[in-house]
Amino acid sequence: MHQITARVVENKEITRDIFRLTLFAPAVARESKPGQFVHLQCGVNQSYILRRPFSVHQTVGVDAFDVLIRVVGDGTKWLAARRPKDSVNLIGPLGRGFTIGAELKRALIVAGGMGVAPLVFLALKLAEEKVKVYTVMGAASKDQLLDFMDLKRLTRKIAVSTDDGSQGHKGLVTDILGKEIEEADPDVVFACGPLAMLRAVAGISRRYSTSCQMSLEARMACGVGACLGCTVGAKDNYLKVCSDGPVFDTQELGW
Ligand SMILES: Cc1cc2nc3c(=O)[nH]c(=O)nc-3n(C[C@H](O)[C@H](O)[C@H](O)COP(=O)(O)OP(=O)(O)OC[C@H]3O[C@@H](n4cnc5c(N)ncnc54)[C@H](O)[C@@H]3O)c2cc1C
Ligand code: FES
Repeated sequence: MHQITARVVENKEITRDIFRLTLFAPAVARESKPGQFVHLQCGVNQSYILRRPFSVHQTVGVDAFDVLIRVVGDGTKWLAARRPKDSVNLIGPLGRGFTIGAELKRALIVAGGMGVAPLVFLALKLAEEKVKVYTVMGAASKDQLLDFMDLKRLTRKIAVSTDDGSQGHKGLVTDILGKEIEEADPDVVFACGPLAMLRAVAGISRRYSTSCQMSLEARMACGVGACLGCTVGAKDNYLKVCSDGPVFDTQELGW
């Protein structure tokens, strides 16, 4: 884990209110694993007291990495306004990422909306490990299907759902998940997205007796396990999203 001031390489609005921010931070880029996150300080002179957590989206060469940022409030608005050569203070990489077991042969990735953020990096690593990757991806509409082409390139099959039917199945990603699990026969389902989707993905994976890892979100303060600000109720205890996760096996959560 490092605390550094990273230089902004690029900040591009890839679709409305969603930015891809590239930061030059060699140590973080080299050490990050899929599913880990960075804690970004927003504003100058700590005008925003709390840092904001963002998944490492993917590394860029060996010295830089991207985060995908959806503007939802003041902190993300500040980040969206950064320009090349500005700096952003960050701590990272933090947390426990996805576990890629040596025995893993087939994987199914489930991405819901902004949940795609940590999953392209994961798909890249899985492809490097010669794992057969399948993807199910859902979003509000076609223009919100972020990184569709990257995931298409990295996976054997990509099934899509959109709320408005502008691409793929009209409806929820969980409507088509069972069929895709039957077809892909994965050893593990890897998921990230809204909480309701994750709960449903956990239930469907359990029905098919498929193990499932998912990246959770929680409001965070310290980001390193010290403040108990991000706890979630698990099977028979409480877990800290920042340091026990953000990636959990659904069995640990009792889902
Ligand atoms: C491990 C982790 C990884 C994340 N990765 C990404 C990512 O890759 N890209 C991305 O855009 N966002 C990501 N988030 C969410 C991101 O941290 C928040 O959107 C951000 O902190 C909001 O800051 P803000 O100051 O703009 O908004 P605030 O002013 O703090 O809040 C604005 C609104 O957003 C809601 N909100 C704030 N934080 C969260 C959160 N963590 N979960 C759900 N709702 C929230 C608030 O309830 C409020 O309604 C991640 C969160 C976690 C915990
Ligand atoms: S944010 Fe402080 S313990 Fe997780």
